[in-house]
Formats: sequence, structure tokens, C-alpha cells
Amino acid sequence: MVKIGILGVGTVGQSVANILESNADILEARAGKKIVAKSGVVKNLSKKRDVNITLSDNPLDVIDDPEIDIVVELMGGIEEPYELVKRALKNGKAVVTANKALLAYHRYELQELAGDLPLMYEASTAGGIPIIGALRNGLAANHIESIQGIMNGTCNYMLTKMIKEGAKYDEILKEAQELGYAEADPTFDVGGFDAAHKLLILSSIAYGIDAKPEDIVIEGIENITQTDVEFAKEFGYEIKLLGIAKRADNGVELRVHATMIPQESMIAKVDGVMNAVTVVGDRVGETMFYGPGAGGDATASAVIADIVDIVRGNQGPMLGYKKGLESGLKLLPKEEI
Ligand code: NDP
Ligand code: HSE
Repeated sequence: MVKIGILGVGTVGQSVANILESNADILEARAGKKIVAKSGVVKNLSKKRDVNITLSDNPLDVIDDPEIDIVVELMGGIEEPYELVKRALKNGKAVVTANKALLAYHRYELQELAGDLPLMYEASTAGGIPIIGALRNGLAANHIESIQGIMNGTCNYMLTKMIKEGAKYDEILKEAQELGYAEADPTFDVGGFDAAHKLLILSSIAYGIDAKPEDIVIEGIENITQTDVEFAKEFGYEIKLLGIAKRADNGVELRVHATMIPQESMIAKVDGVMNAVTVVGDRVGETMFYGPGAGGDATASAVIADIVDIVRGNQGPMLGYKKGLESGLKLLPKEEI
């Protein structure tokens, strides 16, 4: 039996605990072992939650528990989870995280520290879409020419409602928060930072880019008005927040910004919380991945895919190159883009 400890039993953590219980039979059949969520950590123990696991408000109750095999980090933040994940790895535990902000800053150090232990993060990028597995496994034969798409469910939900229903920015942001799509600090969503975190993760796998958010061009949707949206619509365009990575002869260009997209293109038709990422490989050509970009169950689906992979014994490095720029491609300076 494999025992799971969950750091953070909020929107995603509760879904993970519940799916591990409700789908236990199929997971055992697929992983080859029984997988059980044993315990979890929260900040506020008095909040009512819909889970059948032991809860504590001390992360060390999970991380230092010798019975826990896999620690799943779903609490958010950067420095606190960084320290906790390091301690979990030092304790010899496999780690799964959905925390893209953590990975945007610390993915290379954590991979180095993990060594042969699994450190996996399918859920960190594009919610329920298995885009990390696709880049790491399915497209492994290819030099990646470009990765671009809608990588933030909150922004796409907001833009869709503004375009289709004339919804007001503040009201629709509040709705995205209530639905569990937005980050604890929604500035990460609307400021484009969350999409940038995801773009950095994908670029590390595809190109070995060892950069931080400060190194790339990031613009959000805060300044997009109803008038912009109507103007774009009148001229046959949709406005989408895109993350874009493009390989050039002299390096890789990374940027996040709102873009006017012709209404007939596939990406323009991606509405609501859905995400879509197009990856062009030198041998496969263009591929496109579509699905829910946020939400408890959709994200938990990706978290549990990693757990099953670990239990099956599928490991290996996640990032394209072990030491970033030593062997990866050069990031083009943002001033030159
Ligand atoms: P929530 O805010 O819903 O849940 C966070 C959980 O962590 C809560 O249970 C909270 O406790 C607990 N927590 C936070 N800080 C501490 C602490 N210091 N000590 C103990 N417990 C703590 O977040 P989400 O579930 O939405 O997101 C979790 C992670 O997954 C984030 O990194 C997010 O970016 C990522 N993610 C989220 C997606 C989504 O659609 N929501 C999609 C993809 C990734 P309490 O409940 O008591 O406040
Ligand atoms: N806040 C994120 C989003 C969650 O809206 O896309 C999924 O990563």
C-alpha cells in the first residue's frame, strides 16, 4: 500500500483526497498497488471540509511521518512550500506539487535535490491538460519550435464573460474566485504572472531555460476594458491572454500578453475556464492540447496522474536539461523582444 500526505486541503487538496477514495479501485488497477490518502495539513482546523483523512495544522506531521510515501504539496506560496518540499525530499519522500509559483523560482534546485527521487508537477501547468507529460514523453523525439496558448483559466473565464455577456471586470473576477479558479492572490492571474510561471515550466522541459519571471516580458489583462473587447469583436477578433515561447536561431523568446486573435482560429474558440496549448515540434508538426485549465477535480486529475506514475515506477528527470543554461538554450533578453 502507498500512503499519501497532503500539504494543503483546500480546493485541489479536497478533490485529491476524495478522488483517491472514490476511484480507489481503478487507481489500484492502474498503479498496481493500493493508494490511500492518510493525512493532510491545513491552516485553519476549525473550517468544515468534505474529506475522510486525518487533519493537522503542523506540516511536519505529514513530512516527518515515516508511513507517508508521497507528499503532495497543494498549499500555495513560494518560500514556505520550498522549505517543506526540501525537507520532504531529504526525508526520502517522493513529491508531487501543483505549485507553479514555487517551480517558477526553485525548479532547478528542487530537481537537483530530488536526485533519483520523483518530483512531479503535471498539475502545475494548464490544470487538467496533460501537457507536461506530452512535452516530456509524447513529444520527446522533437526539437520544440514553439509553445503557445491560453494558460490561465481565470483570465480566459473573465475575458469570455466580458466578450459574450458584457460582464463587469470586478464582478467576474469575484465569480472566478468563488469557483476556485483564481490564485489566493488573484493579481497572479490578472497580472499575467501565473501564465508566466507556467510558460517558464514548459520552457524548462522543452528548452532547458533556467530563467525567473523577472527575466521575461509579462503583461496581464488589468488594463483591458469593455471597449477594447467590443472593438476587437467588431473587427473579427477575440482577445486572449497568451503565453508564448518561440525558438529562434539565437535563443528562445518568452512572453505573456493579451493578443487579438482572428475569430475563426481554433484558439479564439477556447472559452471559459478552458485552456489550450499549441506545441510545434520539428518532426511531428503542430499539436494542440485542450481542456479545463483550473478547478478542483480537473487539477486533482493531473495530481493523481503523477501519483500513479510514481507508484508505477516511472521516474526520470522532468526538466529538459539538468543544469539549465549550461546545456539548454539561451533566453533572449526581454529588452530585445
Ligand atoms: P486553496 O487556497 O483552496 O487551498 C490551500 C490549502 O492550503 C488550504 O487548505 C489552506 O488551509 C492550506 N494552507 C495554506 N497555507 C498553509 C500553511 N502555512 N500551513 C498549513 N496549511 C496551509 O488553494 P488551491 O487548492 O486552489 O491551490 C493549491 C495549489 O494548487 C496552489 O499552488 C495553486 O496555485 C495550485 N493550483 C490550483 C489550481 C486551481 O484550480 N485551484 C489549478 C492548478 C494549480 P485553510 O484551508 O485552513 O486555509
Ligand atoms: N489560477 C490558475 C488559473 C489555476 O486560473 O489558471 C490553474 O493553474
